[in-house]
Amino acid sequence: MQGKKIRMDKFLAHIGYGSRSEVQKMIKQKRVKLNEKVIYKPDTDFVIEESIVTVDGKQAIYQEFYYYVLNKPQGVITATEDVRHETVLDLLSLIDRRKSLAPVGRLDKDTEGLLILTNDGKLTHELLSPKKHVDKVYYAKVSGMITLEDVEQFEQGIVLNDGTKYRPAKLEIISIGHTSEIYVTLSEGKFHQVKRMVMAVGKEVTYLKRIKMGALELPEDLKLGEYRALTASELKLLKGEKPDAQAV
Ligand code: URA
Repeated sequence: MQGKKIRMDKFLAHIGYGSRSEVQKMIKQKRVKLNEKVIYKPDTDFVIEESIVTVDGKQAIYQEFYYYVLNKPQGVITATEDVRHETVLDLLSLIDRRKSLAPVGRLDKDTEGLLILTNDGKLTHELLSPKKHVDKVYYAKVSGMITLEDVEQFEQGIVLNDGTKYRPAKLEIISIGHTSEIYVTLSEGKFHQVKRMVMAVGKEVTYLKRIKMGALELPEDLKLGEYRALTASELKLLKGEKPDAQAV
C-alpha cells in the first residue's frame, strides 16, 4: 500500500524549517530538492517513505513526534510564548523550536530541572493525568529543621487551610540543619505543590529542582539550560515500558 502524501510546505514546517510562509519562500528560492530535483511549488506532494528531501543540500528527516529533555534553569517560564519573559521554548535552537512542541506540565519560574518537551499529546496526557499516578521526584532545600513528624504528615496527605487536599507523598530527609535537604515524591502536580506542602509543615522551600519523572532521571550530563532529544531507551523509561537491552 502506498504511504500517505504530504505537501512540501507542510512537511518542512513540521520538521522545523519555519512557518508555512517562511518555507514557501525557501522553496521559491530553489533551496529545496525532492529526489535530487529542485521543486518550485510549495504544494508539491509526495510520499515521505519513498522520497528524499534536501534543503540547501542537507537531508530533511521527518519524524512525527519529537521528545526533548531540558534541564530548566531559573528565570525561564514554562510556557510556549510570552511577550515579557524568556520561555523554555526560547532555549531551543530555531530548527528544534517547532510550533507543535509544548512542555509536559509546569515548573515554577524559580524551579530548575527535568522538563520534557514534546508534540505527542497522548503521552503528555498520560504523564499528567491524575489517574495515571506518574511519580515526579524533587530535590529541595528548605529553611528550617525538617522532622520525622513532617515525613508522617506528608505520608498521611496534607490538607491546606484553604481546603486544598494533597495525596499522600513521600518525604525523604537527606540532611537536617538550619537548611535541610529533602526529596519529595508526588503523584500529582498541583500549583506550587512542593512549596505549599512544605509551607504547611512550617518551613520554606529555598531551592527546588525536579530530578525524576516516572522512571526517567534528569541526565547527569545535561547542564542547566541545556536540552537534547530523548534516546529510545529514555523514552521507554518515560513511557513506563521496559527498556530493551540493545536500545540506546
Ligand atoms: N512544586 C512547586 O512548588 N513548584 C514547582 O515548580 C514544582 C512542584
